Amino acid sequence: MKVAVLGAAGGIGQALALLLKIQLPAGSELTLYDIAPVTPGVAVDLSHIPTAVKIKGFSGEDATPALQDADVVLISAGVARKPGMDRSDLFKVNAGIVRNLVEQVARTCPKALTGIITNPVNTMVVIAAEVLKKAGVYDKNRLFGVTTLDIIRANTFVAELKGKNPAELDVSVIGGHSGVTILPLLSQIPGVSFTDQEITDLTQRIQDAGTEVVDAKAGGGSATLSMGQAAAKFGLALVRALNGESNVVECAYVEGDGTHARFFSQPLLLGKNGIVERKPIGPLSVYEQQALEGMLDTLKQDIILGEAFVE
Ligand code: NAD
Ligand code: LMR
Repeated sequence: MKVAVLGAAGGIGQALALLLKIQLPAGSELTLYDIAPVTPGVAVDLSHIPTAVKIKGFSGEDATPALQDADVVLISAGVARKPGMDRSDLFKVNAGIVRNLVEQVARTCPKALTGIITNPVNTMVVIAAEVLKKAGVYDKNRLFGVTTLDIIRANTFVAELKGKNPAELDVSVIGGHSGVTILPLLSQIPGVSFTDQEITDLTQRIQDAGTEVVDAKAGGGSATLSMGQAAAKFGLALVRALNGESNVVECAYVEGDGTHARFFSQPLLLGKNGIVERKPIGPLSVYEQQALEGMLDTLKQDIILGEAFVE
């Protein structure tokens, strides 16, 4: 199994690379790419960790050497938020970066399962899809927006509030990855119930959790370590599915059947060719149904922005 991380010298990239070096199955290969000249050095540093995972780092303008024969590509290249910014403020810079990198994926490893971490995820995944489509290699079962951070945050915050072990929770979070488009399905957690006030407060905390980190870092960037863990969890799930493990289910933002919007985050059954099944989101509470209806205009605008950019 070969996994490539693009943006690997960044805050997320380095944390992700560390977790993959430790947790990928023996015999795997890990390649790191970033425009930053330090990237081969990051790989040398990680190579001293005694696991049976080969690692190589590449820098410069060309990602091709890192992408050759990749089964999984995880992209966190791009700029991060500072206090006072919205994720959509990153669009101008990050759209060009994602377009350029996905063009290289299309040329070099079009069959790879590709996860987009770069913000704004709601729009960057659409750009990636349109770029792959233009190149004639788009498969909607192989492209993912990584929303796992919303799920691990929901697990953590629910566990804190209800005195549970977070490792035993798996809260579904649907929609997208910004503000009101993040919708945790708190009504579907087995054995856990909430007051109306708890639901309002928890939903808002999960939606605003990115900003909580951005403000706490006070100009030093956004979530990197928790995101590194989230991306590793998602990337390792892809690897397990590619290796033939059954019942691998993760939420991610993908192109679906358009019931709610062209792209939508929902639980997915993963297999050797990517998405095997887009699982139903299940019955929603009245609060969740209203929140779902309330997010759709925003989500659809985010999607249109990505489509227009590539056009
Ligand atoms: P960072 O600034 O620490 O790292 C970004 C890296 O991208 C840098 O090393 C930079 O050199 C590299 N880069 C820039 N342009 C590149 C290019 N053309 N090719 C290759 N590499 C390039 O930022 P970070 O904290 O790692 O965040 C990265 C992105 O992830 C941001 O857009 C951030 O908003 C996003 N993010 C997403 C989630 C999520 O839940 N999906 C969570 C946190 C952050
Ligand atoms: C997050 O949710 O932490 C990321 O999307 C980064 C951000 O800008 O909030």
